[in-house]
Amino acid sequence: MKALGIDIGGSAIKGAPVDVRTGRLLAERHRIATPRRLSPVQMAGAVREIVRHFEWQGPVGIGFPGVIAGRRILTSANLHPKFIGCDGVRLFSRAAGGPVALINDAAAAAHAEMTCGAGRGFTGKTLLVTLGTGVGTALAQDGVVFACELGHFPWEGKSAEKFVGAAARGREDLSWVQWGKRLGRYLRQLEALLWPERIIIGGGASAKHRKFFPHLKTRAEVVPAQLRNGAGIVGAALWAARDRA
Ligand code: BGC
Repeated sequence: MKALGIDIGGSAIKGAPVDVRTGRLLAERHRIATPRRLSPVQMAGAVREIVRHFEWQGPVGIGFPGVIAGRRILTSANLHPKFIGCDGVRLFSRAAGGPVALINDAAAAAHAEMTCGAGRGFTGKTLLVTLGTGVGTALAQDGVVFACELGHFPWEGKSAEKFVGAAARGREDLSWVQWGKRLGRYLRQLEALLWPERIIIGGGASAKHRKFFPHLKTRAEVVPAQLRNGAGIVGAALWAARDRA
């Protein structure tokens, strides 16, 4: 079975058709940069463009960087505020020309990593952390995935994602050592509350994991995401396929 996975992020929206049995991308992903904040209507236009690019007819899954409750988007920390309260399923289904399955982007990445990436075959409690414009988190155990919002863990009066996200590293021009130590402090706080056995780190920086993993000093084993930046696309596609099952 195939499904189109679409990953809406802080700086781009990406999509590709996915073989949901293997998690393989069936075509090169199509990426639309979003340097400006797109309104919901504009984002729906970008979804339509991806669907048309692949001339797609079939299940569509969309990962969104905010809290999803049923059909609705409840938060939008790094995207346009007009998404808050919006019926995301209706918005994107109209654009896609058929019903879409909507899921939090970090939960999508966790589904992908647990099914065909760094968590495959592991049944213990796993915390997935994606480091991008925002920080996404999800817990997984024995095939069950929960979206969390630990990127908004309180940190110096703000959300932790403002300090430990990949964007913060660039903004503050932190070295890998400085950033790794800071990220380690954050992960150890989450560990004290959640006690994961394994932590999977995703997002673009995971490709450079050798530069900062030695400074994390967590109790849990830390591993890089295997699907790298593709996890969001693959997980959204898996979610759409599951929805149809
Ligand atoms: C959002 C999360 C999202 C994360 C990564 C955070 O700002 O609140 O829902 O998973 O960014 O995109």
